[in-house]
Amino acid sequence: MTVHFIGAGPGAPDLITLRGRDLIAASPVCLYAGSLVPQALLSHCPPGARIVNTASLSLDEIIAEIAAAHAEGQDVARLHSGDLSVWSAMGEQLRRLRALNIPYDVTPGVPAFAAAAAALGAELTLPGVAQSVILTRTSGRASAMPEGETLSAFAATGATLAIHLSVHVLERVVAELTPHYGADCPVAVVWRASWPDQRVVKATLETLETAIGAEMERTALILVGHAIGAEDFDESRLYAGDYDRRYRPVGTDPRFPDAP
Ligand SMILES: C[S@@+](CC[C@H](N)C(=O)[O-])C[C@H]1O[C@@H](n2cnc3c(N)ncnc32)[C@H](O)[C@@H]1O
Repeated sequence: MTVHFIGAGPGAPDLITLRGRDLIAASPVCLYAGSLVPQALLSHCPPGARIVNTASLSLDEIIAEIAAAHAEGQDVARLHSGDLSVWSAMGEQLRRLRALNIPYDVTPGVPAFAAAAAALGAELTLPGVAQSVILTRTSGRASAMPEGETLSAFAATGATLAIHLSVHVLERVVAELTPHYGADCPVAVVWRASWPDQRVVKATLETLETAIGAEMERTALILVGHAIGAEDFDESRLYAGDYDRRYRPVGTDPRFPDAP
C-alpha cells in the first residue's frame, strides 16, 4: 500500500503527468484538495473508487482516511493543485505518514506560475534582464511570512517575482514593489491560468489597479519584473553559431552529437 501524492496541475485536466494519471487510475481511494483540482481528473479513478473532497476536513480527518485505506491495503491517490513543492500542505501530511510508517511517494505537477507564464507567452528569465524567479506570497490567515521574507527584500534583487495568494492585497503589493522596480515596470495578473475562464491583465505597476477594475476572483498570480513582455534583451549564447558547446563542438553535425 502506498499513498501517492500527485501534483494535479494548474487547472486544465490534461496538464497532469502521465504518471499522475496512471496512479489515479490504479488507486481505489482518491483524496483531492477542493475546487482547485479539476473535477475532470476524478474521471480517471477506477470504478467504485472512494473519492473524497478534503476541502472541509481537518488534518486529523485526512490522516484518518489514509490510515483506513492503509488498514485495507488500498493505495491512495492524494491530489493537490499545481505542484506539491509549494503551498500544498504536503509537508505536514508526510510527517504524519512517516510517524505512522505509512509508505508514500510524490509525483510532481505543473505549477501555477508556469501555467501563468505560458498564458503570457513569456520567458521569466531573459539574458541580461532577469536570471532568477522568486516564488512568494504575502501573509495570509493560515500562514504568516517569516521575518525577512518581505516583498521589498525580494524586489531589491530585481528578479522576476511570481506572487501567489495576494491579488486581494494588490494595492499593498504595488506600493511595496514600486520603489524598487519603478512605476513603469511591467506586471501581469493571470486568473485561473489554463482553466476555460482564464483571464489575463497586462499593465505597469502604475496602471495595474485601473486596468483590473473590480475583478475579485482570488485564484490569480501576479508576475512582476522587467522580463515580463520585454523585447530589448540579449540573445542567449547557447544558440549562437560560434558558441563551442561542450557536448556538441562547433563543426559537428547536431543530429548526431555522438558521431566522431
Ligand atoms: C495554495 S496555492 C497552490 C499553489 C500550487 N501548489 C502550485 O504549484 O502552483 C494557491 C495559489 O496559487 C495560485 N494559483 C493556483 N492555481 C492557479 C491558476 N490556475 N492560475 C493562477 N494562479 C493560480 C494562486 O495565487 C492561488 O491563490
